[in-house]
Amino acid sequence: MHNGSTGPQEKTPHQLYEHLAQLDSGYTLEACTQYAAWIHEIHELKRRHNAVILAHNYQRPEIFEVADVIGDSLELARQSKQVASDVVVFCGVHFMAETAKIVNPERMVLLPDLQAGCSLAESITGEALADRKEELRQVYPDLQVVCYVNTTADVKAESDVCCTSSNAVQVVEALDTENILFVPDENLARYVQNETSKNIIAWQGNCYVHHQITPEQIQEVRDKLPQVKVLVHPECREDVLALADAVLSTSAMMRYAKESPAQEFLIVTECGLSDRLLLEVPEKKFYKSCKLCAYMKMITLEGVRDSLRDGRFEITLPEETRIGAQRSLDRMLALNA
Ligand code: 13P
Ligand code: SF4
Repeated sequence: MHNGSTGPQEKTPHQLYEHLAQLDSGYTLEACTQYAAWIHEIHELKRRHNAVILAHNYQRPEIFEVADVIGDSLELARQSKQVASDVVVFCGVHFMAETAKIVNPERMVLLPDLQAGCSLAESITGEALADRKEELRQVYPDLQVVCYVNTTADVKAESDVCCTSSNAVQVVEALDTENILFVPDENLARYVQNETSKNIIAWQGNCYVHHQITPEQIQEVRDKLPQVKVLVHPECREDVLALADAVLSTSAMMRYAKESPAQEFLIVTECGLSDRLLLEVPEKKFYKSCKLCAYMKMITLEGVRDSLRDGRFEITLPEETRIGAQRSLDRMLALNA
């Protein structure tokens, strides 16, 4: 992860091509020459507008070349509060940029493509949550709502506390209540239920990327390569998690792969994370059992350049919603989970 606001050193087109060609994903020298020109423009624009770029681990590898911070949802939520800049450009999906805005009301937060959504975040609305909460409180008067960070600001504002894939169990354990409505990821909810004695009531949402990964796909690799360590994201189905050596958030996968004495890993999450590992840990072997998130891949270098140049697309929120959502996020950050 890059900390501070300088980002990585600018590469020449040839250096960029050599770097990205390691991925075997069809990068050409011609494409890298265009990327290098956009990267240069973005660096200039960042200086001119006193901007920082935050990027999620699933972003395209060329986006990492302009990112000041790369991380998982929790790291990005923390960092977006700490960066010293007038503008934050968020290379990720809408709920992530919204989270940056919730904790940064005074800064301009830009998302290069407003179509970059999330199937999980779209599986629940603030209104539907309010109804379900009321219904469940008749049965469980102590009910509290834990919302995954992959939700809109409306849903965060209706919740008691937020969580991410790296702290969901700790957040649930820290609450002084037995009955918890966990929204919106049914797979993460089931994972949490298996780690706690509390009663977890799940919302029926899922991530279309992780939910399509099957245990057969993992078992096939395990059978051929019994030595691989299988790292799985908790948004995967329960029968996939059952085959994991470790269930981890995206950044925790990065740390695990770097620090483990093991040499070979099967990475079961969105493909951007495997690409990041292949580039940053070339001495180890990474097998992919990954799927692409079409939303994450909507962010391109050209889009980031346009975003910085034209100040688009600015994330705005009604203040009442922002304050409600901030309460949920602050509670999570204060738990230090
Ligand atoms: P992480 O917080 O583990 O990076 O996950 C975010 C996400 O959207 C996973 O699909
Ligand atoms: Fe949403 Fe899934 Fe894409 Fe993550 S991978 S942003 S949860 S659709």
